[in-house]
Amino acid sequence: MSRTRTADVLVVGGGVIGLVTAWRAAQRGFATAVVDPEPGGGAARVAAGMLAAVTELHYGEQTLLGLNLASARRYPDFAAELTEVTGLDLGYRRCGTIAVALDADDRAHLRELHALQRQSGLESEWLSGRDCRRLEPMLAPGVRGGLRVDGDHQIDPRRLARALVAACERAGVVFHRMWAERLSVVRERAAGIRAADGTDLAAGRVVLAAGSLSGRLAGVPDDALPPVRPVKGQVLRLTVPKRYAPFLNRTVRAVVRGSHVYLVPRENGELVVGATSEELGWDTTVTAGGVYELLRDAHELVPGITELPLTETRAGLRPGSPDNAPLLGPTACEGLLLATGHYRNGVLLTPVTGDVMAHVLTTGELPEEARDFTPRRFSAAAIEEQPA
Ligand code: GLY
Repeated sequence: MSRTRTADVLVVGGGVIGLVTAWRAAQRGFATAVVDPEPGGGAARVAAGMLAAVTELHYGEQTLLGLNLASARRYPDFAAELTEVTGLDLGYRRCGTIAVALDADDRAHLRELHALQRQSGLESEWLSGRDCRRLEPMLAPGVRGGLRVDGDHQIDPRRLARALVAACERAGVVFHRMWAERLSVVRERAAGIRAADGTDLAAGRVVLAAGSLSGRLAGVPDDALPPVRPVKGQVLRLTVPKRYAPFLNRTVRAVVRGSHVYLVPRENGELVVGATSEELGWDTTVTAGGVYELLRDAHELVPGITELPLTETRAGLRPGSPDNAPLLGPTACEGLLLATGHYRNGVLLTPVTGDVMAHVLTTGELPEEARDFTPRRFSAAAIEEQPA
């Protein structure tokens, strides 16, 4: 066993959420370290990168909507700052999104979503099928109508993760490329971690930002353990040959027979098709059934995709939480903070999470915009207080 340098802030997990937390902490002057065998990996390696606060709105998630919109508003400056610091292009594209309906049931679903969007004061325009196809000529002739949302953009999550690693390095963040095995708790206070190779990393504060793995770190007291679970998503990547470009101008999405499907076109010709949503524990197998369903639904939406080379299939694990919203800030264990449980919105929530975590590390308090996302909402006492 060896001892290494003590950090003010040790972040467990080097996905986009852990990295943005580390970057912002280092910018605030904290000696910061990240422990992860492969920084820049995690769910962002699979994610499509939709910044879809409006088209992914769900009933009962209005509180989360506020945080999603706050993060979406920060994206232009956040992306510009990251590019300025690293010289890296993030593939940030303000291309907008169209959500379409293929049959009467889908159209009814979309009408409901439109009503909810309008009640929530969001910009979203109802289009006829013909108008949808005028915007996106590759859409199937049978499209029955849709919603145009110019405010839902996209970013390339792999480029985002690479840029965050580079920004962290430039800000002096130390990377420990190993697995964290156990939280060290000394006199009821988080004091660092023990890594899988026996190395002890000591820290003033520990931020647990390990995505779907966050609930698995040994040594975390029960009342501080985040209730996150893995939700599998299978995703395909196709390539649009130059002769077909522009194949799609914006993100196209739909609910087909109850399943969400989306096609996200990048400027470099990549076309990402996602995603399944499966509660299968830690399984990350790409299955024939998953690929078939995605291709079948995407083909109904945009028949021309069958011409495109299929270049990659992958599965990742979203960190699901009981209310689909993230857990941010201090826990019942002193010195242990959480930045996890971002579920479908990790890439979208990256800018605001960095700001929130920097604020809480500096002041000890969550900023107003993030108070609802305290992990304490899941404590036994908070649950008992909820009306039956
Ligand atoms: N936000 C897209 C997904 O989780 O599949």
